[in-house]
Amino acid sequence: MTDVKATKPNLQGYKDFSIGGFHFRRDEFFAHITWPTGKHVMSADTFLRALQRDVAWDFFYGTVNFDHVFGTVNHYGNVDMFAGRFNDAYRKAELDHTENFESPVLKQTFEAMLDDWTNASFDPFASPAETDKPFGQKKGSNTSAVTRRRVAAARMVGVPGDEKIRTDKTHPINRMFADVPQDEPEVYPEPGFEKDVAAFSLFAYLSRSDVTWNPSVVSICKASLYCPTTEEYILPIVHGNDRVDWFIQLSDEIVWDVQDRDSGAPRAKVTMKAGDVAAMPADIRHQGYSPKRSMLLVWENADPGLPERISKGLASVHAVQF
Ligand code: PHB
Repeated sequence: MTDVKATKPNLQGYKDFSIGGFHFRRDEFFAHITWPTGKHVMSADTFLRALQRDVAWDFFYGTVNFDHVFGTVNHYGNVDMFAGRFNDAYRKAELDHTENFESPVLKQTFEAMLDDWTNASFDPFASPAETDKPFGQKKGSNTSAVTRRRVAAARMVGVPGDEKIRTDKTHPINRMFADVPQDEPEVYPEPGFEKDVAAFSLFAYLSRSDVTWNPSVVSICKASLYCPTTEEYILPIVHGNDRVDWFIQLSDEIVWDVQDRDSGAPRAKVTMKAGDVAAMPADIRHQGYSPKRSMLLVWENADPGLPERISKGLASVHAVQF
Protein backbone atom coordinates (compact mmCIF):
# COMPACT_ATOMS: atom_id res chain seq x y z
CA MET A 1 0.00 0.00 0.00
CA THR A 2 2.89 2.35 -0.67
CA ASP A 3 0.87 4.70 -2.90
CA VAL A 4 -1.82 5.43 -0.33
CA LYS A 5 -1.57 8.87 1.25
CA ALA A 6 -2.57 8.54 4.91
CA THR A 7 -1.79 10.50 8.04
CA LYS A 8 -1.03 9.21 11.51
CA PRO A 9 -4.20 8.36 13.52
CA ASN A 10 -6.17 11.40 14.74
CA LEU A 11 -7.52 11.85 18.27
CA GLN A 12 -10.33 9.37 17.61
CA GLY A 13 -7.81 6.83 16.32
CA TYR A 14 -8.59 7.04 12.58
CA LYS A 15 -6.19 8.02 9.78
CA ASP A 16 -6.99 10.79 7.26
CA PHE A 17 -6.69 9.81 3.59
CA SER A 18 -6.17 11.94 0.50
CA ILE A 19 -6.08 11.26 -3.21
CA GLY A 20 -5.97 13.95 -5.90
CA GLY A 21 -7.83 17.00 -4.55
CA PHE A 22 -10.07 14.90 -2.26
CA HIS A 23 -9.46 14.55 1.47
CA PHE A 24 -11.25 12.14 3.84
CA ARG A 25 -11.42 12.29 7.64
CA ARG A 26 -13.50 10.22 10.05
CA ASP A 27 -14.46 10.98 13.62
CA GLU A 28 -16.70 9.04 16.01
CA PHE A 29 -19.86 9.55 13.95
CA PHE A 30 -19.05 11.02 10.57
CA ALA A 31 -17.01 10.88 7.38
CA HIS A 32 -15.88 14.38 6.35
CA ILE A 33 -14.98 14.84 2.68
CA THR A 34 -13.36 17.96 1.19
CA TRP A 35 -12.39 18.87 -2.37
CA PRO A 36 -11.11 22.12 -3.92
CA THR A 37 -14.58 23.72 -4.23
CA GLY A 38 -16.40 22.34 -1.21
CA LYS A 39 -16.93 19.98 1.67
CA HIS A 40 -19.44 17.35 2.71
CA VAL A 41 -20.31 15.30 5.75
CA MET A 42 -21.94 11.85 5.86
CA SER A 43 -22.79 9.37 8.61
CA ALA A 44 -19.91 6.90 9.03
CA ASP A 45 -22.57 4.19 8.74
CA THR A 46 -23.77 5.28 5.28
CA PHE A 47 -20.25 6.02 4.09
CA LEU A 48 -18.74 2.66 5.14
CA ARG A 49 -21.63 0.58 3.77
CA ALA A 50 -21.34 2.34 0.39
CA LEU A 51 -17.53 2.23 0.38
CA GLN A 52 -17.64 -1.51 1.10
CA ARG A 53 -19.75 -2.16 -1.98
CA ASP A 54 -17.80 0.17 -4.28
CA VAL A 55 -14.61 -1.70 -3.34
CA ALA A 56 -16.04 -5.24 -3.46
CA TRP A 57 -17.83 -4.64 -6.77
CA ASP A 58 -14.87 -3.00 -8.52
CA PHE A 59 -16.88 0.25 -8.87
CA PHE A 60 -19.93 -1.68 -10.21
CA TYR A 61 -21.91 -0.68 -13.34
CA GLY A 62 -22.20 3.05 -14.02
CA THR A 63 -22.63 5.38 -11.06
CA VAL A 64 -22.33 4.51 -7.39
CA ASN A 65 -23.84 7.43 -5.47
CA PHE A 66 -22.89 7.19 -1.79
CA ASP A 67 -25.61 9.80 -1.24
CA HIS A 68 -26.96 12.89 -3.09
CA VAL A 69 -23.46 14.46 -3.31
CA PHE A 70 -20.55 12.03 -3.36
CA GLY A 71 -19.77 8.98 -5.50
CA THR A 72 -17.97 7.28 -8.39
CA VAL A 73 -18.60 6.60 -12.09
CA ASN A 74 -17.06 3.45 -13.53
CA HIS A 75 -15.38 3.71 -16.94
CA TYR A 76 -14.11 0.12 -16.63
CA GLY A 77 -10.35 0.66 -16.23
CA ASN A 78 -10.54 4.18 -14.92
CA VAL A 79 -13.04 5.76 -12.60
CA ASP A 80 -14.38 9.25 -11.85
CA MET A 81 -14.72 10.31 -8.23
CA PHE A 82 -17.15 13.20 -7.93
CA ALA A 83 -18.84 15.61 -5.57
CA GLY A 84 -22.10 17.29 -6.60
CA ARG A 85 -21.94 16.04 -10.20
CA PHE A 86 -25.41 14.44 -10.13
CA ASN A 87 -26.99 17.14 -8.00
CA ASP A 88 -28.82 19.95 -9.77
CA ALA A 89 -28.09 22.57 -7.09
CA TYR A 90 -24.35 21.86 -7.04
CA ARG A 91 -24.26 21.93 -10.85
CA LYS A 92 -26.10 25.26 -11.07
CA ALA A 93 -23.82 26.81 -8.43
CA GLU A 94 -20.82 25.35 -10.32
CA LEU A 95 -19.60 23.72 -7.12
CA ASP A 96 -19.44 20.22 -8.55
CA HIS A 97 -16.05 18.56 -8.85
CA THR A 98 -14.83 15.42 -10.65
CA GLU A 99 -11.41 13.76 -10.80
CA ASN A 100 -10.44 10.68 -12.80
CA PHE A 101 -8.18 7.88 -11.49
CA GLU A 102 -6.88 4.58 -12.77
CA SER A 103 -9.23 2.12 -11.06
CA PRO A 104 -6.54 0.17 -9.14
CA VAL A 105 -5.12 3.43 -7.76
CA LEU A 106 -8.42 4.68 -6.33
CA LYS A 107 -9.27 1.17 -5.15
CA GLN A 108 -6.07 0.99 -3.10
CA THR A 109 -6.98 4.17 -1.22
CA PHE A 110 -10.60 3.05 -0.76
CA GLU A 111 -9.48 -0.37 0.54
CA ALA A 112 -7.04 1.17 3.03
CA MET A 113 -9.66 3.67 4.24
CA LEU A 114 -12.34 0.96 4.59
CA ASP A 115 -9.97 -1.22 6.60
CA ASP A 116 -8.78 1.60 8.86
CA TRP A 117 -12.25 3.08 9.47
CA THR A 118 -14.08 -0.21 10.18
CA ASN A 119 -14.00 -1.29 13.83
CA ALA A 120 -13.80 -4.94 14.94
CA SER A 121 -17.49 -5.22 15.80
CA PHE A 122 -18.88 -3.65 12.60
CA ASP A 123 -19.54 -5.53 9.34
CA PRO A 124 -20.55 -3.11 6.55
CA PHE A 125 -22.09 -5.95 4.50
CA ALA A 126 -24.38 -7.10 7.30
CA SER A 127 -27.91 -6.00 8.02
CA PRO A 128 -27.94 -3.39 10.84
CA ALA A 129 -29.93 -5.99 12.81
CA GLU A 130 -26.99 -8.41 12.59
CA THR A 131 -23.97 -6.22 13.31
CA ASP A 132 -22.87 -3.74 15.94
CA LYS A 133 -22.79 0.01 15.20
CA PRO A 134 -19.87 1.56 13.30
CA PHE A 135 -19.60 4.53 15.67
CA GLY A 136 -17.12 5.52 18.35
CA GLN A 137 -13.37 5.68 18.75
CA LYS A 138 -11.26 3.28 16.71
CA LYS A 139 -11.38 -0.18 18.24
CA GLY A 140 -9.67 -2.99 16.35
CA SER A 141 -10.40 -3.92 12.75
CA ASN A 142 -12.49 -6.38 10.73
CA THR A 143 -10.22 -7.13 7.79
CA SER A 144 -11.73 -10.53 6.97
CA ALA A 145 -15.20 -8.97 6.60
CA VAL A 146 -14.14 -5.94 4.55
CA THR A 147 -11.99 -7.98 2.16
CA ARG A 148 -14.83 -10.45 1.47
CA ARG A 149 -15.53 -10.55 -2.25
CA ARG A 150 -18.82 -11.35 -3.89
CA VAL A 151 -19.29 -14.97 -4.87
CA ALA A 152 -18.91 -15.31 -8.66
CA ALA A 153 -19.55 -18.55 -10.53
CA ALA A 154 -17.79 -19.14 -13.84
CA ARG A 155 -20.70 -21.18 -15.29
CA MET A 156 -23.61 -22.09 -13.05
CA VAL A 157 -23.56 -22.93 -9.38
CA GLY A 158 -23.71 -26.73 -9.12
CA VAL A 159 -21.82 -27.74 -12.26
CA PRO A 160 -18.33 -29.17 -11.76
CA GLY A 161 -15.92 -26.38 -10.90
CA ASP A 162 -18.69 -24.25 -9.39
CA GLU A 163 -19.92 -26.48 -6.62
CA LYS A 164 -22.33 -25.13 -4.11
CA ILE A 165 -20.34 -24.68 -0.93
CA ARG A 166 -22.89 -23.46 1.61
CA THR A 167 -23.22 -25.77 4.61
CA ASP A 168 -24.67 -25.50 8.10
CA LYS A 169 -21.15 -24.98 9.39
CA THR A 170 -20.06 -22.22 7.02
CA HIS A 171 -23.44 -20.64 6.17
CA PRO A 172 -26.24 -21.33 8.67
CA ILE A 173 -29.79 -20.62 7.50
CA ASN A 174 -30.58 -16.98 8.22
CA ARG A 175 -33.05 -16.21 11.01
CA MET A 176 -35.45 -14.67 8.48
CA PHE A 177 -35.47 -17.73 6.20
CA ALA A 178 -36.03 -20.47 8.78
CA ASP A 179 -39.13 -21.59 6.81
CA VAL A 180 -37.35 -22.01 3.46
CA PRO A 181 -37.34 -25.69 2.36
CA GLN A 182 -33.84 -27.07 2.02
CA ASP A 183 -34.51 -30.00 -0.32
CA GLU A 184 -32.55 -30.08 -3.54
CA PRO A 185 -33.81 -31.14 -6.98
CA GLU A 186 -32.93 -34.62 -8.19
CA VAL A 187 -31.05 -34.59 -11.49
CA TYR A 188 -30.68 -37.58 -13.83
CA PRO A 189 -28.52 -36.43 -16.77
CA GLU A 190 -28.17 -38.63 -19.84
CA PRO A 191 -24.83 -40.44 -19.82
CA GLY A 192 -22.13 -38.12 -21.13
CA PHE A 193 -23.87 -34.94 -19.88
CA GLU A 194 -23.05 -35.32 -16.17
CA LYS A 195 -20.67 -32.34 -16.29
CA ASP A 196 -23.16 -30.06 -18.05
CA VAL A 197 -26.53 -30.70 -16.47
CA ALA A 198 -27.07 -29.54 -12.90
CA ALA A 199 -29.73 -27.98 -10.73
CA PHE A 200 -29.93 -26.48 -7.27
CA SER A 201 -32.50 -24.80 -5.08
CA LEU A 202 -31.86 -21.08 -5.39
CA PHE A 203 -34.16 -20.42 -2.42
CA ALA A 204 -32.15 -22.80 -0.21
CA TYR A 205 -28.92 -21.25 -1.49
CA LEU A 206 -30.06 -17.70 -0.71
CA SER A 207 -31.51 -18.64 2.66
CA ARG A 208 -27.88 -19.15 3.77
CA SER A 209 -26.56 -15.78 2.60
CA ASP A 210 -24.86 -13.98 5.50
CA VAL A 211 -24.69 -10.59 3.76
CA THR A 212 -27.20 -8.05 2.48
CA TRP A 213 -27.28 -6.01 -0.73
CA ASN A 214 -24.42 -8.01 -2.23
CA PRO A 215 -25.42 -9.83 -5.42
CA SER A 216 -23.51 -13.07 -6.06
CA VAL A 217 -23.19 -14.31 -9.64
CA VAL A 218 -24.77 -17.80 -9.77
CA SER A 219 -24.87 -18.28 -13.53
CA ILE A 220 -23.19 -16.84 -16.58
CA CYS A 221 -24.36 -17.36 -20.16
CA LYS A 222 -22.42 -15.06 -22.52
CA ALA A 223 -23.27 -11.54 -21.21
CA SER A 224 -26.26 -12.70 -19.15
CA LEU A 225 -25.46 -12.67 -15.44
CA TYR A 226 -27.91 -13.92 -12.81
CA CYS A 227 -27.00 -12.10 -9.60
CA PRO A 228 -29.38 -13.02 -6.77
CA THR A 229 -29.03 -11.40 -3.38
CA THR A 230 -30.73 -11.10 -0.02
CA GLU A 231 -31.87 -7.66 1.09
CA GLU A 232 -32.72 -6.13 4.45
CA TYR A 233 -33.00 -2.44 5.36
CA ILE A 234 -31.71 0.02 2.69
CA LEU A 235 -29.50 -0.51 -0.38
CA PRO A 236 -26.41 1.39 0.82
CA ILE A 237 -25.80 3.04 -2.54
CA VAL A 238 -28.01 4.92 -4.96
CA HIS A 239 -27.24 3.15 -8.18
CA GLY A 240 -27.20 5.11 -11.46
CA ASN A 241 -26.99 2.34 -14.01
CA ASP A 242 -25.45 2.65 -17.48
CA ARG A 243 -27.69 -0.09 -18.86
CA VAL A 244 -31.14 -1.60 -18.28
CA ASP A 245 -31.19 -3.53 -15.00
CA TRP A 246 -33.81 -6.29 -14.43
CA PHE A 247 -35.21 -7.11 -10.99
CA ILE A 248 -37.19 -10.26 -10.18
CA GLN A 249 -38.58 -10.19 -6.65
CA LEU A 250 -38.25 -13.77 -5.42
CA SER A 251 -39.75 -13.31 -1.95
CA ASP A 252 -41.27 -10.68 0.32
CA GLU A 253 -41.18 -7.02 -0.74
CA ILE A 254 -38.87 -4.14 -1.74
CA VAL A 255 -39.87 -0.52 -2.33
CA TRP A 256 -37.69 1.19 -4.94
CA ASP A 257 -37.16 4.91 -4.93
CA VAL A 258 -36.46 5.89 -8.55
CA GLN A 259 -35.02 9.24 -9.57
CA ASP A 260 -33.64 10.89 -12.69
CA ARG A 261 -30.05 9.66 -12.99
CA ASP A 262 -28.47 13.06 -13.63
CA SER A 263 -30.54 15.53 -11.58
CA GLY A 264 -31.97 13.35 -8.80
CA ALA A 265 -35.51 14.55 -9.58
CA PRO A 266 -38.09 11.99 -8.34
CA ARG A 267 -39.42 9.69 -11.10
CA ALA A 268 -41.26 6.79 -9.41
CA LYS A 269 -41.87 4.65 -6.34
CA VAL A 270 -42.03 1.00 -7.30
CA THR A 271 -43.33 -1.54 -4.78
CA MET A 272 -42.25 -5.03 -5.82
CA LYS A 273 -43.92 -8.04 -4.23
CA ALA A 274 -42.87 -11.68 -4.61
CA GLY A 275 -43.18 -12.64 -8.28
CA ASP A 276 -43.01 -9.06 -9.64
CA VAL A 277 -40.55 -8.25 -12.42
CA ALA A 278 -39.24 -4.77 -13.25
CA ALA A 279 -36.79 -3.43 -15.81
CA MET A 280 -35.10 -0.31 -14.47
CA PRO A 281 -34.34 2.07 -17.38
CA ALA A 282 -30.75 3.11 -18.08
CA ASP A 283 -31.39 6.80 -17.38
CA ILE A 284 -32.42 6.55 -13.73
CA ARG A 285 -30.90 6.02 -10.30
CA HIS A 286 -32.54 3.73 -7.78
CA GLN A 287 -32.37 2.77 -4.12
CA GLY A 288 -34.26 -0.12 -2.53
CA TYR A 289 -35.93 -0.42 0.87
CA SER A 290 -36.57 -3.95 2.16
CA PRO A 291 -38.66 -4.01 5.37
CA LYS A 292 -38.01 -7.72 5.92
CA ARG A 293 -35.09 -9.78 4.60
CA SER A 294 -36.10 -10.61 1.04
CA MET A 295 -34.70 -12.45 -1.96
CA LEU A 296 -34.08 -10.51 -5.16
CA LEU A 297 -32.72 -11.68 -8.51
CA VAL A 298 -30.76 -8.93 -10.25
CA TRP A 299 -30.32 -9.77 -13.93
CA GLU A 300 -27.44 -7.87 -15.53
CA ASN A 301 -26.38 -7.58 -19.15
CA ALA A 302 -22.58 -7.40 -18.85
CA ASP A 303 -22.03 -6.61 -22.56
CA PRO A 304 -19.11 -4.11 -22.38
CA GLY A 305 -20.33 -2.22 -25.48
CA LEU A 306 -23.71 -1.31 -23.98
CA PRO A 307 -22.90 2.01 -22.24
CA GLU A 308 -21.45 3.46 -25.44
CA ARG A 309 -24.34 2.23 -27.59
CA ILE A 310 -26.83 3.73 -25.13
CA SER A 311 -24.96 7.05 -24.88
CA LYS A 312 -24.90 7.32 -28.71
CA GLY A 313 -28.62 6.55 -28.92
CA LEU A 314 -27.95 3.23 -30.72
CA ALA A 315 -29.57 1.23 -27.91
CA SER A 316 -32.63 2.26 -25.92
CA VAL A 317 -32.62 3.25 -22.26
CA HIS A 318 -35.82 1.21 -21.94
CA ALA A 319 -36.15 -2.57 -22.05
CA VAL A 320 -39.35 -2.31 -24.08
CA GLN A 321 -40.67 0.49 -26.30
CA PHE A 322 -44.44 0.73 -25.93
C1 PHB B 1 -28.64 -2.43 -8.01
O1 PHB B 1 -28.16 -1.32 -7.89
O2 PHB B 1 -29.20 -2.74 -9.05
C2 PHB B 1 -28.55 -3.37 -6.90
C3 PHB B 1 -27.37 -3.45 -6.17
C4 PHB B 1 -27.29 -4.34 -5.13
C5 PHB B 1 -28.36 -5.11 -4.79
C6 PHB B 1 -29.54 -5.03 -5.50
C7 PHB B 1 -29.63 -4.15 -6.55
O3 PHB B 1 -28.26 -5.94 -3.77
